[in-house]
Amino acid sequence: MSVSDIIHSRRSNRAFDSSRAVPKEALEKIVNAALLAPSAMNQQPWRIYVSMNDEFLRKVGLLVEEVTAKSYPGILSRKEALGVKEAIFYDAPAVLFITKRKDLPAPVCADIDIGLCLENAILAVYELGLTCVPVALPAMFGKDIINDHLKIDTDKEEFMITLPIGYARPDYEGPTQKALQEGTVVWLDE
Ligand SMILES: Cc1cc2nc3c(=O)[nH]c(=O)nc-3n(C[C@H](O)[C@H](O)[C@H](O)COP(=O)(O)O)c2cc1C
Repeated sequence: MSVSDIIHSRRSNRAFDSSRAVPKEALEKIVNAALLAPSAMNQQPWRIYVSMNDEFLRKVGLLVEEVTAKSYPGILSRKEALGVKEAIFYDAPAVLFITKRKDLPAPVCADIDIGLCLENAILAVYELGLTCVPVALPAMFGKDIINDHLKIDTDKEEFMITLPIGYARPDYEGPTQKALQEGTVVWLDE
């Protein structure tokens, strides 16, 4: 699949086939693609933690789901509608956890760098015939849980985002047609 094909067809997946593991070689390719992203002053501010441990992922997913539901109860109806064990990683067999280093020459650009790293990973996921969804809820509501379970040194790193990866559950229909917002491009010369 070309990059253009992936960009035009990619949609987030929110129900993974937990019985189908992601081969480690595929995860290595995804992580390597992420690490090659451009970054301000080549600061490469990221660190990527990878887990393929179903027990660990479901445990962390449920803990984050519990704290998220206090602020965003809609997550529980989403869980029921999707028929997933937890509505954070959506039963994904593999998850990347991306952190941002704190000692940086260009800290003002680091969030953009992390986004580029994430997008490289996403493109590689779809090139390999896998699917994914970027998930920020753990960073919004469950930072302490993630820091604790990944043993992140919070003096040195800040947890930013996760990327659950896997094969789509065969019965999952996926999102509906995507409507693009109006007024997001300004042609200055017209
Ligand atoms: C930074 C970021 C954070 C996101 N966080 C979540 C999340 O916590 N949970 C979730 O289900 N989807 C999350 N998404 C997925 C978006 O909801 C999704 O990309 C958006 O609705 C557009 O749909 P598409 O990815 O199918 O094009 C996130 C996406 C981005 C880029």
